[in-house]
Amino acid sequence: MSLSPADPSGGLSPPAGPIGGEADPLLGWRREFPILGRSRYLVSHSLGAMPRRAEARLHEYARTWAERGVRAWAEGWWTLPLTAGDAVGRIIGAPPGSVVMHQNVSLCQSLVLSCFDLSGPRNGIVCEELNFPTVLYVYQAHAALGARLHTVKSDDGITVPLERFLAAIDETTLLVPLSHVIFRSGAVQDVAAITRRAHEVGAYVVADLYQSAGTVPVDVTAWDVDFATGGSVKWLCGGPGAGYLYVSPRLHDTLRPRMTGWAAHPRPFAFELEHDWAEGAARFQHGTPGVPALYAATGGYEVVEEVGVDAIRAKSMRQVALLIALAEENGLRPRVAGRPAERGGMVVLDVEHGEAVTRELLRRETIVDYRPGAGLRISPHFYTSDDELRGVVAEIRGILDEGAWKAHQRDGGTGF
Ligand SMILES: Cc1ncc(COP(=O)(O)O)c(C=O)c1O
Repeated sequence: MSLSPADPSGGLSPPAGPIGGEADPLLGWRREFPILGRSRYLVSHSLGAMPRRAEARLHEYARTWAERGVRAWAEGWWTLPLTAGDAVGRIIGAPPGSVVMHQNVSLCQSLVLSCFDLSGPRNGIVCEELNFPTVLYVYQAHAALGARLHTVKSDDGITVPLERFLAAIDETTLLVPLSHVIFRSGAVQDVAAITRRAHEVGAYVVADLYQSAGTVPVDVTAWDVDFATGGSVKWLCGGPGAGYLYVSPRLHDTLRPRMTGWAAHPRPFAFELEHDWAEGAARFQHGTPGVPALYAATGGYEVVEEVGVDAIRAKSMRQVALLIALAEENGLRPRVAGRPAERGGMVVLDVEHGEAVTRELLRRETIVDYRPGAGLRISPHFYTSDDELRGVVAEIRGILDEGAWKAHQRDGGTGF
């Protein structure tokens, strides 16, 4: 399979010119995403639209299995967690051989923890209280082994003051598993500053890039983080089952995760009875990789790399500002960080009857989501037109004014 940036399209789906009358060259990419033809799709903070290339890659996977059978392992399947990891690495500023694929972030956090001893005095885990709950759950569950979780409070439910975060990290801190972009609000955190403070006191940083990679520039090398993790479901348009773990090359030789298996062994097919440790990120694997998910995901990485995160970010900042302005003009309250540079790709609106309004939007094929404690979440991505943003705001205003939300008053939660 081709993962080379030199031939990213595989001749599958070249972007065409602008559509919809907007002079935005990125709109040519809309043809790559079938769902955009039938929905106003504004939910890339949850599940990015499927690129046609992902479908092509899944066909390639099935064909390989059918035609090559067991030989496929030696012809690329076994090393796919590392080759796909390198494709993610190009997007997050990680050198080749430093990113390995796993199923999801929860598992990657547990794997990182399994590298450390929690029984001594350095057992503090410090992160923001607005962190994604799965991360909190992993660290809470390790209290049984000695982990002490300290969550830094937010005053506004949108951001956590940097000074407060820095002050919470001390000589008893082992890990700082922070989110780069907060899932509840889209606020961007200063990972470099927090990493500097963590390193001053000998703590390690695990940056969760799920809500940034693919829409906000990320540079794990420049930030000097120890670990980074994320998934491919959202802004990377790679679908589920393709989480990634970056480990700084300076740590490769010293760490020995207890969550391990034969894929972390340098000679897995020798079936030796004693564990030994592979070099580089390979030692952070465990068992048989989830091959189909990795095929699909590389389709998304290729598209994101081809569009370019800088171009995506420039458009995202313009459209996030537009969406905020449209919301305010229509009496809807954005809950976002104060400065544009501190906002990721998502806008949260504090809308009365938000859950019922979201249900009515979904019924009308306008795809957004609602999260308790956050609000109604809306995201433009590089394939979004300005008209779609005008449309969603007008729909919300209309649903509130006409009372159309009332039809959903007694429905269950919006779930996904
Ligand atoms: C910041 C962040 N971290 C993690 C997750 C999910 O974690 P996992 O990959 O374990 O499902 C999400 C959302 O799904 C998220 O927004």
